[in-house]
Amino acid sequence: MSLVTLKEILAGTREGHYAVGAFNFNGYEDAQGIVEGAVEKNSPVILMASSSAVKYIGLYQVAGMVSGMAKSVDIPICLHLDHATDVAMIKEAIRAGFTSVMIDASALPYEENIDKSREIVKFACLYGCSVEAELGRVGGKEDNIVVDDPSAAFTDPAAVPRFVEETGIDALAVAIGTAHGFYKSEPKLDFERLQQLVAVTDCPLVLHGGTGVPEEDFRRCVHTGMSKINVGTELKATYSHALRKAVADNPESVFDPRKYVGPVKAACAEVVKGKIDIFGSADKAWSCR
Ligand code: 13P
Repeated sequence: MSLVTLKEILAGTREGHYAVGAFNFNGYEDAQGIVEGAVEKNSPVILMASSSAVKYIGLYQVAGMVSGMAKSVDIPICLHLDHATDVAMIKEAIRAGFTSVMIDASALPYEENIDKSREIVKFACLYGCSVEAELGRVGGKEDNIVVDDPSAAFTDPAAVPRFVEETGIDALAVAIGTAHGFYKSEPKLDFERLQQLVAVTDCPLVLHGGTGVPEEDFRRCVHTGMSKINVGTELKATYSHALRKAVADNPESVFDPRKYVGPVKAACAEVVKGKIDIFGSADKAWSCR
């Protein structure tokens, strides 16, 4: 089927007490593995390309590849541009067929974040594309965005209603204690803040920095009302380990590249299936209809 928007795929998540997993990919094998994992679980899924993944693969190549994957299966798939700061790239992604984009203007002052996010929403509306924005700052490093002190930038619930109202966004990334990349020590999530955030807005909320978050914390986030959960680094590591193992396991005489990169698909699918079980989205493929 055709790609669906973020708005469509997240509809019903809060009431249904599940979240849709959003997984970063960097090539064909991990993207296909994500799709296969979701198909096995009959779950909706969001495929995310970061700005650097788009630069590596090519914008139209990403759009064509993922829309082709969506056409070959019977689960809802959303193609999302993750953490973009470059307005020109965002607009080009929308034109190319992405069904969701994230404008990350969270480094800017509140009013400027509103203005920039609203500008993207206005443009995206013309193409029926969804928009995610961020308020507060998620720590760690994602692409070229580095945030050193996450605790200084938790999302203020009081700032949310006006932000959602004035921008018209479809999903809001919030900072409650997670960070991008591997954790040096176990993350401490601010669940009280999450509860307040859920109470002040109906806008679906997004948890970034899913790699390394304990299963119990994920479950609590979903139960409290988180709608979309991003996982990136864990899949990068899975990709690399699977590839290294395939190289080590095969003799040098093997020259079919599929023998090396092929195992990446199954390895990524396994990770995705595990997350889908935790996020509660198995058999929810058509809950968004
Ligand atoms: P991790 O790489 O920490 O899983 O975070 C992914 C993410 O939030 C992408 O936006």
